[in-house]
Amino acid sequence: MTLTMSGYISCGNTIPNMRKPKHYREDCNRIAFIYDILVRFISSFFGGEQELRRITIDEMELNPDQKVLDVCCGTGTLCAMIAEAVGSCGEVIGIDLSENMLKKAERKRKENMDFEIANAEEIPYPDGYFDRVCITFGLHEMPYSVRMNVLREIARVLTAGGRITVLDYARPKNALVGLLFNVWMLVEGATARDFIRRDLVLMMRSSGFDVCGESVHWMNTIRVVSGVAGEIREGGRNGRK
Ligand SMILES: C[S@@+](CC[C@H](N)C(=O)[O-])C[C@H]1O[C@@H](n2cnc3c(N)ncnc32)[C@H](O)[C@@H]1O
Repeated sequence: MTLTMSGYISCGNTIPNMRKPKHYREDCNRIAFIYDILVRFISSFFGGEQELRRITIDEMELNPDQKVLDVCCGTGTLCAMIAEAVGSCGEVIGIDLSENMLKKAERKRKENMDFEIANAEEIPYPDGYFDRVCITFGLHEMPYSVRMNVLREIARVLTAGGRITVLDYARPKNALVGLLFNVWMLVEGATARDFIRRDLVLMMRSSGFDVCGESVHWMNTIRVVSGVAGEIREGGRNGRK
């Protein structure tokens, strides 16, 4: 293990197991060995995985030298693309609770990237550390209260004026697509079904973000929403430490 620029413990090449919170779906950890193949297969119907990842990258408005956090980074494919976009003076951190996902991610590691095993509710970085934070297909894995904690925690680690980009499921408008999507939601589970019943924009606003961009993709089955973090007030950005 090594110390990162922020002074926190980084995984390096060894990913320790970590005690997971009650809500955590161990399935996420179990499917790590096949996750990249699964994502590539599903996204092949919509232009491929690179295109999928590009949606988030384009929304993030990345610049060289930025510090970027990918929350629930999974196998790190998006981190690797962000690392290219911010260049060698930038810094990209991926956090996830799955040691198996992170082991896969380690293979994609570049010089300006690091992965850490961490709970998204307790991001191991100081207030205002990051310029950009993204979370893709992560929020639907969590119960509502955890989701809100994670959004508030992201607001904490973003610098004032920093940007969050969330990509996740949306309820499609077309009836036939909706039917297939509902079947998929049965596979995804209760937290995903709860996620699509709620308004992501509202969740982000009540976590302290000014929503500044929104778009839908993949026949309206996924949605990307970006928001900007406001000034840090006394007691934290959201009135909490
Ligand atoms: C569906 S995967 C998405 C991975 C990746 N972001 C992507 O777009 O492919 C969801 C990930 O969220 C992680 N996760 C779920 N709850 C978490 C939490 N509380 N803290 C950190 N990671 C979490 C899981 O381990 C899993 O890797």
